[in-house]
Amino acid sequence: MILTRPGNKRKIVKKIAPFFPDHKLRIEPFFGAGGSFFSLPKPKYSILNDLDGDVVNLYLTVLNKKEQLIEELIKVPVCDGLMKYWYRHQETDEVMKAVRFLFLSNFTYMGKGYTVRYGIDNSKRNILKNIDSVFFSLQDCKIMNVDFREVLKKISFSSTVTRKSDSFIYMDPCYLETENFYKVPKWTKQDTLDCLDIMVDSGINCAMSEFDHEFVLTEAKKRDLNIIEIGERQNINNRKTEVLITNYYTSLNVNNEQLKINY
Ligand SMILES: C[S@@+](CC[C@H](N)C(=O)[O-])C[C@H]1O[C@@H](n2cnc3c(N)ncnc32)[C@H](O)[C@@H]1O
Repeated sequence: MILTRPGNKRKIVKKIAPFFPDHKLRIEPFFGAGGSFFSLPKPKYSILNDLDGDVVNLYLTVLNKKEQLIEELIKVPVCDGLMKYWYRHQETDEVMKAVRFLFLSNFTYMGKGYTVRYGIDNSKRNILKNIDSVFFSLQDCKIMNVDFREVLKKISFSSTVTRKSDSFIYMDPCYLETENFYKVPKWTKQDTLDCLDIMVDSGINCAMSEFDHEFVLTEAKKRDLNIIEIGERQNINNRKTEVLITNYYTSLNVNNEQLKINY
């Protein structure tokens, strides 16, 4: 991984993945830092989407202009003056746009800050060290930059190559009513409902990560979806339970009834 962003699933993906069904094609409509994608074994085919143009530009730049990106990363210093400039100014060249996005995301507080946040594990060296593995992981992936509601419409499923039965959608959206720092429009209850409706209507195995927010659980139950408790997560302000909502049952949670929360 090269991008540091709030909401990254890297730390808990190992707890979630056992509940994923077998699949040849994985669709991730909310790719973000790719914490889930880069931490799991790669399926045969992947479709990765994010509405944030900076996220998509970064990964396309790694794929198409890796050497130029590395050159600029080496050249450009991490310093307060530059962060202050980039906080107010965009870049137009795609390589510099990727450098700006990486630096602001990785080296300032929550990616929105304005002064440099120094950390031992969070250095330019780490980006440079990981860039090749990101490049190789992204080979043969389709990358999209649309609203999540548009993703499935753009995929032509067939009965031979891309079968719905061989596909799996992992949705890791912004969590409802949690503070987020993404550049995309604020996440709403309607967005959550639209995700749940995709789970009901798509005809594809789907799983969605969320907290145990009452609205989310009630709406998931109304749609007869399965709710699996993953574990507690604590931040400075509170403690919340992470859940995985699925439109399928896995042998794991059929055999472990205690994993199902009954509300
Ligand atoms: C929680 S993050 C995904 C984290 C990712 N799974 C990871 O492990 O790094 C949510 C992502 O959804 C994207 N997003 C927000 N609204 C969206 C929308 N309407 N359509 C597509 N992507 C959206 C944000 O830009 C953000 O990158």
